[in-house]
Amino acid sequence: MNFLDQFALPQSSGHIQLLEYVMILTMLLLIPYLALLLGSTFFSVLYNKKGRKEKNTTYIKFSKDVIDLVTVNKSSALALGAIPMLSMMFCYSQLMQSSGGSVSGNIFFSFLIYIASVIAIFTFKYSFHLSDIFNLTKLNGERDDSIQSEFDTLKKTTNKVLIKSGSYGLIFLFISVYVFIGSVQFATDSTRWAEGESILSILFSIQTITGFLHFIAISFSITAIGILYVFFKPGGKYSGKENDYTIFARNFALKTAMLFILAQPVLYAVNILLLPKNALNWSYFGIAVFVLFILLVLANLLYFMLKESNVKYRSSTMFLTLIMVTLFIVKDQTAFNTTSQLHTKKLAKEYDLFAQNFKEELGLFKVEVNGEEIYNGRCIACHNFDTKLVGPPYNSVLPKYENNIDGLAEFILNPQKIDPAYPAMPNQGLKPNEARAVAEFIMTTYQSSK
Ligand code: HEC
Repeated sequence: MNFLDQFALPQSSGHIQLLEYVMILTMLLLIPYLALLLGSTFFSVLYNKKGRKEKNTTYIKFSKDVIDLVTVNKSSALALGAIPMLSMMFCYSQLMQSSGGSVSGNIFFSFLIYIASVIAIFTFKYSFHLSDIFNLTKLNGERDDSIQSEFDTLKKTTNKVLIKSGSYGLIFLFISVYVFIGSVQFATDSTRWAEGESILSILFSIQTITGFLHFIAISFSITAIGILYVFFKPGGKYSGKENDYTIFARNFALKTAMLFILAQPVLYAVNILLLPKNALNWSYFGIAVFVLFILLVLANLLYFMLKESNVKYRSSTMFLTLIMVTLFIVKDQTAFNTTSQLHTKKLAKEYDLFAQNFKEELGLFKVEVNGEEIYNGRCIACHNFDTKLVGPPYNSVLPKYENNIDGLAEFILNPQKIDPAYPAMPNQGLKPNEARAVAEFIMTTYQSSK
């Protein structure tokens, strides 16, 4: 998205660091929310379909409970999903500006699809509740055939909307997350930045696929553990009840969590193998090892609960899951910070230059320029006072400038071809005040040695 790059301002190194923290905090809101939303929509749509097909009311009830898990209100979809997405887009456009690579356009695309999916998912949720009302309502009293048939059509339409909106919501959410995760993965590898911003290079990359699978594993495990945590907590929907339905829900949650926790070590290994060398560092490894440890503890806790048919480690598993997700985010962001180090240094330098020019323009401060330093740094390779190097000795060319220091500074600023015996002097890229300072320095040195 090139228009965003035009808004990107040069960033100081302090500012860059701040942006990197903002990105981690933003992801801490976004990733768990997206993971829960995707997981619960997926399970809800799945069990809704299954339930209708097999006429199984347990499945349908479960489907409804699960979709209610995250879709508590619409503002959370905005505060935890949409706004963080836009904020990530903004941060990336600042940090990857003029690097050749850009992900903000793709993140914007993923944002639009996300909005579409949220609308569909909420429609799914509301039509679910509505269809319940239709199913429970019996028209009684004096039957009017036209009312009865209207009622039946409405009931049918609601069911249709319910099925369609669920599937569309799910498909849109999958696409949105896929593009988003792909963009984050793309950003962690600066060797790919040269590919530019083509969405194709994100869609068909192995990093996107593995990153996405990893996200799915996190999403399904956090949803399952969320079901345990929310519904079985004291005072929760299922707490203290031991019937077919709660046993089904508990077993589903424990087994699903277990399965997708166990899948994660493999995905971590693949992820590390695929990461470019310039994004690897020790903290990345350290994090991965720590995550493996947490996954091991989680798997054990789940196993005990499954064996003993209870939910007593409900809170600990939730707590560990949140740490696991946090580390998953920190890992990707450290990789991004490592891979972008060179680029952000360049940005910081550009900023220093920008700030200096800006201040000079405002007359806020004058840079001290030292003619001698410039001479030693820039001229000495080609010039001496009394012998000929690449360029003529100063003692032979300075006399003509003795009363024309402006002319000398002008020449240094913008050298012209003069003596056929020499090649042309290359432009040294000095600023006007620097050219003047070095002109004054060589002139006084020449005059004092006369
Ligand atoms: C890469 C080599 C090179 C560097 C570096 C270089 N010069 Fe030169 N300079 C030359 C050459 C070659 C000429 C002769 C150009 C001609 O006569 O066309 C020259 C000519 C000059 C002249 C004579 C101009 C005249 O009117 O005859 C001055 C004064 C001079 N340089 C100053 C500087 C100063 C000051 C710097 C450092 C900021 C500098 N040069 C850096 C190669 C260099």
